[in-house]
Amino acid sequence: MIPYRKEPSYVPPEQCPQQGHERMILQQPIVNFTADGISEPEAAMLRHMNETGAVFMMGQNPKLPVMPAKPKLLDFFHYRFCDIAFRHLLQSAKLALDSGQNETVVVACLLHDISNGAFLRTDHGYWGAQMIAPYVSEEISWAIKYHQALRYYADEAAGFKYPDAYYKFFGPEYKPPEYIHNDYLQARKHRWYMTSRFITIYDIYSFDDRVEVDPDIFTDIIGRNFKEPEEGLGFDGSPVAHMWRTMIWPNNFL
Ligand SMILES: [Fe+2]
Ligand SMILES: [Fe+2]
Repeated sequence: MIPYRKEPSYVPPEQCPQQGHERMILQQPIVNFTADGISEPEAAMLRHMNETGAVFMMGQNPKLPVMPAKPKLLDFFHYRFCDIAFRHLLQSAKLALDSGQNETVVVACLLHDISNGAFLRTDHGYWGAQMIAPYVSEEISWAIKYHQALRYYADEAAGFKYPDAYYKFFGPEYKPPEYIHNDYLQARKHRWYMTSRFITIYDIYSFDDRVEVDPDIFTDIIGRNFKEPEEGLGFDGSPVAHMWRTMIWPNNFL
């Protein structure tokens, strides 16, 4: 366990919703696209439901840490994000902070891969930018959106070369698709280009599990740059509240 992750607490299964039923988890449809084609677990689970009275899980999964009733940004880091995302975001933000970057860049680094934490990896820059847009400056959200494209293009004058890790991740011949290239061209001309470019510069491309960063060092910076909704993330009625709720109850059947 990462020393700075808060100790999780759990709800006993008998206090979770749908008591007295076996609760089945049907994975999100996007997980059904596998290296072997499309898997279709739903039909068998529906049969099991009809034969046994099992139900599909709704609400708190007893195996997942409980979230506070009014969750704040760092609660998602502690109780939902995988270890790699937890470390990666904190290490990137710390690097930006230690390099003397302003708070806009530090927060952009802290949140740049937030979508990878517990939501979606595909097009993660776009999803991440949308998730946080109501709560941060337009510049932070813009920078996160465009880091998705900028990562694939070197800017050696700014101190960014194509990451060695990407040769391994994608193979040496990989070329990004046209929409990424177009967004890269657009970003290059934009007045906030360097904010987004700094994300790619402080991004840690080799995941280091020996460096631990305490998220609490960012509490004040988050306070000044991320408007935490009073009702908690997921419950403020914002256009993105459903994305945060999806991370709170990721196993809901519907
Ligand atoms: Fe990223
Ligand atoms: Fe990253």
